[in-house]
Amino acid sequence: MEKLVIEGGVPLRGELKISGAKNAALPLIAATLLAPGTHVLHNVPNLRDTRTFLKLMEELGCSYDYTGTTLNVDTTTINHSEASYDLVKTMRASVLVLGPLLARTGAAKVSLPGGCAIGARPIDFHIKGFEQLGAVCTLESGYVTAAISDGLVGNTVYFDIPSVTATENLLMAAALAKGDTVIKNAAREPEIGNLIDMLISMGAEIDGRDSDTITVHGVKQLYAAENRIIPDRIETGTYLIAVGATGGEATITDCCPSHLPALLEKLRKAGFTLSEDESSLHISSPRSTEGRLLIQNTDITTRPYPGYPTDLQAQFMALMTLSGGASIIHETIFENRFMHVAELCRLGADIKTDGKSAFVTGKGEAGLVGAPVMATDLRASSSLVIAGLAASGKTVISRIYHLERGYENLVEKLTGLGARIWKER
Ligand code: UD1
Repeated sequence: MEKLVIEGGVPLRGELKISGAKNAALPLIAATLLAPGTHVLHNVPNLRDTRTFLKLMEELGCSYDYTGTTLNVDTTTINHSEASYDLVKTMRASVLVLGPLLARTGAAKVSLPGGCAIGARPIDFHIKGFEQLGAVCTLESGYVTAAISDGLVGNTVYFDIPSVTATENLLMAAALAKGDTVIKNAAREPEIGNLIDMLISMGAEIDGRDSDTITVHGVKQLYAAENRIIPDRIETGTYLIAVGATGGEATITDCCPSHLPALLEKLRKAGFTLSEDESSLHISSPRSTEGRLLIQNTDITTRPYPGYPTDLQAQFMALMTLSGGASIIHETIFENRFMHVAELCRLGADIKTDGKSAFVTGKGEAGLVGAPVMATDLRASSSLVIAGLAASGKTVISRIYHLERGYENLVEKLTGLGARIWKER
């Protein structure tokens, strides 16, 4: 199995280009199922998750051409409406085909995602939403089946917690429903705005983009269209933190700084200097007059957008292990998202957890020391990369397939900033 080897301690410097967002690409590919024809998507990141989703699309009967970052998906034929366990078990986002398949064909069957490394992650909001639009949903043999005989009918749907993929699934289902659907307490992540823009370009009528109440005026038909995936804000945040943790200075291009309000504020609080324009960010690290890296201890609490993203919690924790004081990290979105703690401690980090809180005592000048560690989930893995880049000596990360799910050309991008990082068998 491949491993990632890092010789740390090199301040990252230079310029780095951000890819399209994984969490936007997946729902936008799913949305192509709503209308027969050839859809064109630009800025699609070449990731394990994208390729898995395209495999699923093929299983449903669609075909595609993926050249560079442009994806042409032909959804003229759908001859199957089932997402099998084999695919869903590797990528939870497969549930995103439920809404569009139900709306277009009147039936959909998707394996239950089951338990996942970062928590229970149920799909009850998705099911409740479809039922409120008139679908009959059943759970049997590990699969959820949703069916409707005479078309979906708009309704008001309220989510107890703003859920990103449940909001996306309902938006797609409601686009072809009869009448209006109002989604209350909807999630407001930028990826949802990207999906709404795509649905509108396909002929959907939607009000309330970027707000927690979205109204979908159902239409009879949608059409194939051409759209662009937004820059990956989690990838942007990960590299900003990596540059900061190594005491470096870099420009991140092709990104969207306005999608990272909470992280940018926290980085400034931690002492970093940031400047930004519409599509790029420059970060430089705080140093004493003798040249020592001086990261300020800073607390974070994860929240739905525009709050601090849970997908950047592990990375910020890695940064805080290098600060000059104590910080508290509260995780309010997922119940088991501290799997990286034990691994960070192997590099010498001082972190204690109690329920949803992690207490980090920064190592300051002493820093971290490289060690063998194991990647546990996608974002936890990137926190280990950050820690390894900042640590003195060698860090070897195993189970790196997690990283390949969500970071395009990670090794090449970091090497471009001067990191000593490579893959080994
Ligand atoms: C999406 C992102 C993931 C990110 C997460 C939170 C994609 C493909 N994935 O995941 O990277 O970490 O948002 O920003 O976009 N919940 C329920 N019942 C449901 C659905 C959700 O109880 O039916 C709960 C979850 O357990 C969690 C919270 O709602 O506590 C938010 O989760 P949700 O926004 O749904 O996460 P995902 O959409 O799975």
